[in-house]
This record gives sequence, structure tokens and C-alpha cells, in this order.
Amino acid sequence: MLKPARGHFEPVPDAAMSSAFARDMMSALVSRPRSISPKYFYDAEGSRLFDLICGLPEYYPTRVELRLLTETAGEIAHLMGPRAQIVEFGAGSLRKVRLLLGAMTEPAGYLPIDISGEHLNACAAQLARDYPALQVQPVVADYSARLRLPPCPRGMGMRVGFFPGSTIGNFTPRQAEQFLRRAGRALQGGALLLGADLIKDPAVLHAAYNDAQGVTAAFNLNLLARANRELGTGFDLQQFAHSAFYNAPQQRIEMHLISRRKQTIEFGGVPHTFEEGEAFHTENSYKFTIDSMRALAARAGFTPGPVWTDPDQLFSVHWLHAPR
Ligand code: AVI
Repeated sequence: MLKPARGHFEPVPDAAMSSAFARDMMSALVSRPRSISPKYFYDAEGSRLFDLICGLPEYYPTRVELRLLTETAGEIAHLMGPRAQIVEFGAGSLRKVRLLLGAMTEPAGYLPIDISGEHLNACAAQLARDYPALQVQPVVADYSARLRLPPCPRGMGMRVGFFPGSTIGNFTPRQAEQFLRRAGRALQGGALLLGADLIKDPAVLHAAYNDAQGVTAAFNLNLLARANRELGTGFDLQQFAHSAFYNAPQQRIEMHLISRRKQTIEFGGVPHTFEEGEAFHTENSYKFTIDSMRALAARAGFTPGPVWTDPDQLFSVHWLHAPR
């Protein structure tokens, strides 16, 4: 049964999201260097483009993580025990959770939390049809904000957080620790299954964020297209170039939009000028070592458990015990 869980959470209605976007866009435009949260990539078009990225030959994280989850689903299901409830942070198109559900003993509940309401509800409705015994409660919310999950219903087993895809890497280290701390409290002594992308040859990282078909470039530029649609900003997309590179000292991929020439847009009744070559920083994607990920989780109160990685050590999946 599909039951929206409004009331238990703090859902972010589209209008509120739009005004948060307007506020954050304004503060990005008036600050130097300009930067904005990558969470604004994910409107319906951004989610569609991200799904395409996940299937690109250069974008190994999805492929490798899916393989890891497929190979270890039985072991993970054993750690979860019967009648577990999965809480997925930033659920996207719910593809990965199906691997877990298929291996679990009587999966009892699934709470996917995502900012992109339309996409989430469509995917959740399909999942609920495929798993009629599963209580599916899609929640349109910003999971990076404060979380108030309902207590696990009686008779349900362990509450297991699921945060795949190395989305943890899109937070700053401080935000990542804060998110983990909040998630730890919400998991009520259960566990967190977390995907983390690993530090590797910068050429492999570079290719993953500069694909030959230009899908990542379109995904990056969609931020400006979304601002035009929702905020009437009037960005000329032809006049911005996608730029993504590995910043080794910071251990992160950075994505920027670079102004191809001097140009001025108007927003909020104020002109905002971009110089030729000026960067608008749109995303960080931090990379980890297995130890640095475990240390981060431990700082946030988790007890690190088993870790799975592929033979090339491209990606890692961590089982982390939540604080009691
Ligand atoms: C969602 N997130 C983990 C992706 C990443 O790799 O940081 C978003 C992305 N940005 C460009 N390509 C994919």
C-alpha cells in the first residue's frame, strides 16, 4: 500500500523548495566565488539526466556499487535480520533497494526520502505494486535537513538506513558528519548501509565527470535551465561551459559552470555580472579511503562493521552500527 507519510516528517512542498532555491540562488549570485548546493540539480529533468549518467560507460560508481550489492545482498540481508525496515536517504529511482529487498527475509517497511517529489512518487508507486506486502511510505523531503522519522511500528525488525551512490561525498566534511549524526539518531540502534566512492587514478575520476556524450555537462547546465524555469533568471545556457576536475589536495571532484564571456543577468531586480572565465561552483564530490570513511562514521557515533569493495578498489559499501 502506498501511504504518503506527511505529518511524520517535515516534507518540503514544491513552493517552499522553490523559495529556498530563490534564496540560495540570490546568495550565490552576490557572493565571490559563486557557489550553490548541488541539491538543486534534482528537479524532474535533473533526476532524468542523473539516471542517464548512472548508465554511462565512464561513470563506474553505479555499475560497481550495483555489482557489489548484488554479490553481497545475502550477507547484508543476514545482518538485517527478518522484517527489517529500510530508510533510504535520497532514493532516486529506487533501483538499488530492489537488490536488497529481493534478498531480505520478509522486508516489512520502506521509507524512501527524496527531494524530487514527482520522480519519487512515480517510482514508489511502482515498487509498492511489485512488493504488495511491503509498507512503502515515500517522503518528499530534504534529507540533509533535520530528520524526524516515526518510530518503527511494532513487530518490525531492525531499522536500516540506506545511503548508496556515494551521495555522502556531495556534502562538505562538516555536513557529512552532521548528516551521519542525525541519521544515527533516527536509526534507533539499527544500522546504516553506506556507499562511498574511493580515491583512485585522477584520470578515471576525470573521465567519470567528463563523459563523451556530454550528459554530465547537460546535468550541470540544467541547474541554470531550472533557475530559468522556476526563477525566471534568464541565463543564456550557450554562454556557460561545463568544467569538472579532480582537486587532489581536497580529495574531491569539483564541478563548475564557466562563463564563456562577460555577461549580465538580472535577478531579484539586481544585475549580476559574470566576467569572462568566471566560475559558478555547482558541486563537490568527495572521494574517500576505506579508513577515512570509517573514521568519519566513527566521529559521528557509528561503530564501523564489515566493508565490501571490488577487486580494483573503485568503490566501497560499509555496514555501520548506529549508536544506541
Ligand atoms: C549523486 N552524486 C553522488 C553524484 C556524484 O558522483 O557526485 C552526482 C554527479 N555529479 C556528476 N555526475 C554525477
